Amino acid sequence: MAATSAATFSIGSTISPGTKVSQLPQSKPLSMRFNSQNTLATFSGLKAATFVKCESESSFLGKESSAVLRGAAAPKAQKSSQRSQYNLNPQASYKVAILGAAGGIGQPLALLVKMSPLISALHIYDIANVKGVAADLSHCNTPSQVLGFTGSSELPNSLKGVDVVVIPAGVPRKPGMTRDDLFSINANIVKTLVEAVADNCPDAFIHIISNPVNSTLPIAAEVLKQKGVYDPKKLFGVTTLDVVRANTFVAQKKNLKLIDVDVPVVGGHAGITILPLLSKTRPPVSFNDEEVQELTVRIQNAGTEVVEAKEGAGSATLSMAYAAARFVESSLRALDGDADVYECSFVQSDLTELPFFASRVKLGRKGVEAIISSDLQGLTEYEQKALEALKPELKASIEKGIAFAQKQPVTT
Ligand code: NAD
Ligand code: LMR
Repeated sequence: MAATSAATFSIGSTISPGTKVSQLPQSKPLSMRFNSQNTLATFSGLKAATFVKCESESSFLGKESSAVLRGAAAPKAQKSSQRSQYNLNPQASYKVAILGAAGGIGQPLALLVKMSPLISALHIYDIANVKGVAADLSHCNTPSQVLGFTGSSELPNSLKGVDVVVIPAGVPRKPGMTRDDLFSINANIVKTLVEAVADNCPDAFIHIISNPVNSTLPIAAEVLKQKGVYDPKKLFGVTTLDVVRANTFVAQKKNLKLIDVDVPVVGGHAGITILPLLSKTRPPVSFNDEEVQELTVRIQNAGTEVVEAKEGAGSATLSMAYAAARFVESSLRALDGDADVYECSFVQSDLTELPFFASRVKLGRKGVEAIISSDLQGLTEYEQKALEALKPELKASIEKGIAFAQKQPVTT
């Protein structure tokens, strides 16, 4: 099935009417709706939404996928009439680059991104093995053109004219390692790649996946500052997988429909710095103390759960690709003018005394439009203690990244 002949999608998110947003007069229920003729609608299931209405004869995923999505969304479909409207621009044509695209995350991420109707060009870059991935992907009959770039001499061209750059380049953990154990290799990789981003597409949204995110994101910020092109609104540490996991585990524990559940996860992306705010789960759910402890620890250790299950063959790749594709789609929707896009991300922040902090943010055409401050208000005693406990570790990781970048000034 090639393309949607006539499709209507409505997607609503989970910010509750009382949510406070810094820099915004007030928040509102979220939604998007596209009515498109003869165009692909969206890639299914990658949105940060709990409300989905899908009326489509067919989609690029085929009738069955549409039917599943329709079925999952049906109970809430009636509520769409009061929601704000986002009309997908059928001419939308964004360019996305993936750096580290031949890897465990890179390949499935490239496939998911290739399915987006919002993209005209997908540039995939790696130090090796990327031409075959590009040839393979390019046979998918979705609209975007795929171009492969190999090695540092082709890096600049892979970034020219790009709107969103995603960086999953670097080594993954093996059992027994912490994310911080990856610092010595990945810090340099991220530094070099972000230097190239600064030189070739300084206005792009930059998504940092490479671990340890708590340090690599500050490295990226420092590199961009040294290059004179730092825009804190456009630099993101990708923590979407923590939200995806929290949503999944909470839905399983409480026997809820997955598509309904949204749990904000704040702090950072390693061990105790990952703090799911279960008290802010939507729809509202109550947890006893034992459930809070069990779910919090499982969400914090979910990466390690995968690393151990893979027995030395790497860390999460498929769920990460899914999460990263969702974050790409949210960024593209924001670039395309959807006024209701919210995601958790590790960004420059004034929510706490730390310079970078993961929380829900509102995305717009220029990047972060607002940081959702209300999530940190009215925390439970357990969450408040966990928040205070994570700060020293997160602060140390941030400072380690900044010190690394300051010791090795960028090449001009
Ligand atoms: P992988 O080893 O399978 O793939 C990494 C790819 O990066 C390889 O193809 C490699 O050739 C490429 N690469 C290495 N150096 C490069 C360079 N200088 N330029 C371009 N490409 C380069 O690893 P993976 O499983 O895909 O994981 C990648 C990274 O993502 C790891 O650091 C991992 O810890 C991290 N990760 C983060 C999250 C998160 O939630 N943020 C989740 C999972 C994994
Ligand atoms: C994850 O959370 O799965 C990633 O950060 C990879 C890892 O090393 O755990």
